[in-house]
Amino acid sequence: MNIIDPRPSVISQRFSQVKNIIAVTGFKGGVGKSGVSCALALALTEKGFKTGLFDLDFSGASDHLILGSGKVFPREEKGLLPPYVHGIKFMTASYFSSDKAIALRGSSVSSAIKELFTVTIWGELDYLIFDMPPGVGDAAFEVMNLIPSAIILPVQTPCSLSAKVMERSLEIYKEGKFKVLKTVQNMAVSKEKGFYHQIFYDKKWPKAAGKADKLIKTSFYADTFGLAGKLVKESSL
Ligand SMILES: Nc1ncnc2c1ncn2[C@@H]1O[C@H](COP(=O)(O)OP(=O)(O)OP(=O)(O)O)[C@@H](O)[C@H]1O
Ligand SMILES: [Mg+2]
Repeated sequence: MNIIDPRPSVISQRFSQVKNIIAVTGFKGGVGKSGVSCALALALTEKGFKTGLFDLDFSGASDHLILGSGKVFPREEKGLLPPYVHGIKFMTASYFSSDKAIALRGSSVSSAIKELFTVTIWGELDYLIFDMPPGVGDAAFEVMNLIPSAIILPVQTPCSLSAKVMERSLEIYKEGKFKVLKTVQNMAVSKEKGFYHQIFYDKKWPKAAGKADKLIKTSFYADTFGLAGKLVKESSL
């Protein structure tokens, strides 16, 4: 007997009022995906756009720590309404894990992502940022299967090894006909051409984690604000 999974059709409804979905991707760990995702969400909010942020790195969730989201929790109303954190509609698996690491692998990751895609009610948004885990794993395949409109924003550091891994991995998204933007270079140390945008190394950024008032005063945030401006032009909003 074939069992029909109703979730994909519910999921497309859940995202139907979201104008732009940007998946912040990087193929190495620690290149700055989470920092860029959080700063981008703050910057788009500051620019006056209705913005959401979804931490899809279930086992290594960190956006709640970067934003200092405190003790907020989604409200239930025929689904889950993400709470506002600094004006951003913010969803993370850390709400359900008492801030402990979530040990998931293989099909459990896909299933958990599908489940949260199904139950989360985003409503109207101009931008929704996905903070992706490193690599092209289960989360990436779920996004590719379920969110065909996602725009892929790759992040890498000046390390040439990370650049090579990135190129190969981006092919997978390109084969899936996703719009893939040029790469953002994070932790840049000198001006270089050929990138979508450069975010420079800022020793104040890690120290400001958890304190939004401090985060927005860093040069990392100022650089990411510039990135937000380019994305807004790109999506013609
Ligand atoms: N431009 C920067 N200047 C200085 N430090 C940075 C910069 N970008 C990121 N970092 C630091 O690098 C570390 C990793 O950043 P982040 O967690 O955003 O990376 P990630 O790609 O999301 O990692 P993971 O793959 O583990 O999810 C953090 O301590 C962060 O503060
Ligand atoms: Mg991360």
